[in-house]
Amino acid sequence: MSLEELKKQIKETGNVPQHVAIIMDGNGRWAKKRGLKRTEGHKAGVKTVQRVVRLAHPLGVKYLTLYTFSIENWKRPKSEVAYIMKLLYNTTRSELDELHKNQVKLIATGRISGIPQSSRMMLRKAIRKTANNNGLVLNLALNYGGRTEIIDAVKKLVKDVKAGIVSERRISPELFENYLYTCELPDPDLLIRTSGEMRLSNFLLWQTHYTELYITDVYWPDYTEEDFCRAIIDYQSRERRFGRLTNKSR
Ligand code: FPP
Repeated sequence: MSLEELKKQIKETGNVPQHVAIIMDGNGRWAKKRGLKRTEGHKAGVKTVQRVVRLAHPLGVKYLTLYTFSIENWKRPKSEVAYIMKLLYNTTRSELDELHKNQVKLIATGRISGIPQSSRMMLRKAIRKTANNNGLVLNLALNYGGRTEIIDAVKKLVKDVKAGIVSERRISPELFENYLYTCELPDPDLLIRTSGEMRLSNFLLWQTHYTELYITDVYWPDYTEEDFCRAIIDYQSRERRFGRLTNKSR
């Protein structure tokens, strides 16, 4: 099916996931396969980010979360980490006008204070500039770790309990969510992981409790608009029961 036909099918079927989260994996292997440096894989990965960001909102996706840099990624060689941070700076700078023009609202979740200053400042500028946009919410998970997020939330909650702002009796999943980095976002409906690995890698551990998973063997730099459409079409065929029985499953 052509891209246009895939898009048409998505529109006609309806029930598009409102929040899609992506683990963009396989940049290093993509580069290695071509005899290139790993950093070339990250550079090529940015092109895929552009493709998916442009496509998501017209398809009906409202929130897109991209696992851009995990807390564990600091363990990579210093030169690779520096390259990714520079890429973040350059991409944010060069894409800002286009994002703004397309009504994209950029946000970031993670321990953002741990990002090198120049990239952090550029990111802050982009977040401020796009704050009132009403198109796609593009959430970059940066210096993000699911367990760290939960610990940070627990610490904030304990503070509020101690200060008498929250009573222990009121603690519930709904209340706890307000303390997560992602408090402004609905839980992801669909989580896509590229390059075939079958794991969550510390991504959105709390939020993915009923998220539909879609794993493809394609390396992130090779991931196309058609691949993204196919993931959405697959999602549209799923029956989400959230632990209940439905007419179909009875
Ligand atoms: C995973 O591939 C990718 C990353 C850790 C970094 C993702 C970053 C980008 C796509 C570029 C920056 C994006 C923005 C939005 C500015 P990997 O290196 O783990 O690949 P491998 O598993 O094959 O080694």
